[in-house]
Amino acid sequence: MLRSVVRGVGAYLPAQVVTNEELSRRVDTSDEWIRERTGIERRHLAAEGELTSDLAANAARVALQRAGLRPQDVELVIVATATPDHTFPATATAVQRKLGIGPGIAFDLQAVCAGFAYGLATADNFLRAGQARTALVIGAETFSRILDWEDRGTCVLFGDGAGAVVLQAEEQAGARGDRGLLATHLSADGRHYDDLYVDGGPSSTRTTGHLRMNGREVFRYAVAELAGAALTVLDKAGYGTGDLDWLVPHQANKRIIDAVGKRLQLPADKVIVTVDRHANTSAASIPLALNEGVEDGRIREGDLVVANAMGGGFAWGAALIRW
Ligand code: ACO
Repeated sequence: MLRSVVRGVGAYLPAQVVTNEELSRRVDTSDEWIRERTGIERRHLAAEGELTSDLAANAARVALQRAGLRPQDVELVIVATATPDHTFPATATAVQRKLGIGPGIAFDLQAVCAGFAYGLATADNFLRAGQARTALVIGAETFSRILDWEDRGTCVLFGDGAGAVVLQAEEQAGARGDRGLLATHLSADGRHYDDLYVDGGPSSTRTTGHLRMNGREVFRYAVAELAGAALTVLDKAGYGTGDLDWLVPHQANKRIIDAVGKRLQLPADKVIVTVDRHANTSAASIPLALNEGVEDGRIREGDLVVANAMGGGFAWGAALIRW
């Protein structure tokens, strides 16, 4: 059977780092409040003129290099983002142009914080259907551009960044124990459309708008859906939480991450956490965390990894990967 195997991972964070202390000079907040409620200590913010496609291309370049592949080898580019460079064309085509990829399939995918999980599942379907052999799945965001910097309830929570993985289709003989994406699960529930949204858009207001959020409702659902999605992919592939080497959850809030780990009965040292230094980078948070786990030697070949995410829509999902 055809399986999608991870060949390389890469990430990029903008140079500018903003601490909680610095934010407290802009809005009525404090380092203590932000740390206590979210675990966030600092975040990276894109420089003026630095676009989502720049972040995406930088992350993708590293992933390709680690995969030992050239831009010309890529037949499918998916950029998961809620902050595209322009309304159209797709940011994925800007990445093609910046890296010299294509012609090939390239499109953006909008599932907000769940975007990378949606991107992995979508690319996996293309690869297993034989419609492409090599795919770049990128999560890239410049959320700093859609934040209301006067709303202390939201502006302290997010950061900018990008991460990418290179997936390649590989013919494998067995079932259980093979490498690559073993299972994916996606879902969404539009009844929560108003709980986390941007109050602008080309069709509604002809503006870009700002992020608005019902934090308590998001918190409640995030824990349940993140844990549920992880259990679903494990179950689909015939595994249990005891088999898991790493949980790489969407990085929104340390309290959400801890609650999910607890529900899954995972020891804290099996959960990769970057939210303290990156804040919530939406679709970029999972590949940024995967990149960190691989770079520092925690995630190794053969490890069983669950990446799970939840966000606006609400939309959520997970992928089970044998690294
Ligand atoms: N600094 C200081 N005080 C603040 C701040 C701030 N940055 N933000 C809000 N407050 C105040 C509020 O005004 C309120 O004051 P009041 O009691 O005088 O009215 C008080 O703190 C409590 O506010 P709540 O919103 O009730 O605080 P809560 O304990 O719910 O924590 C938080 C808010 C951290 C946003 C929490 O609801 C949460 O983490 N929700 C999840 C949201 C999330 O992670 N979203 C990310 C996108 S979705 C995703 O990626 C999964």
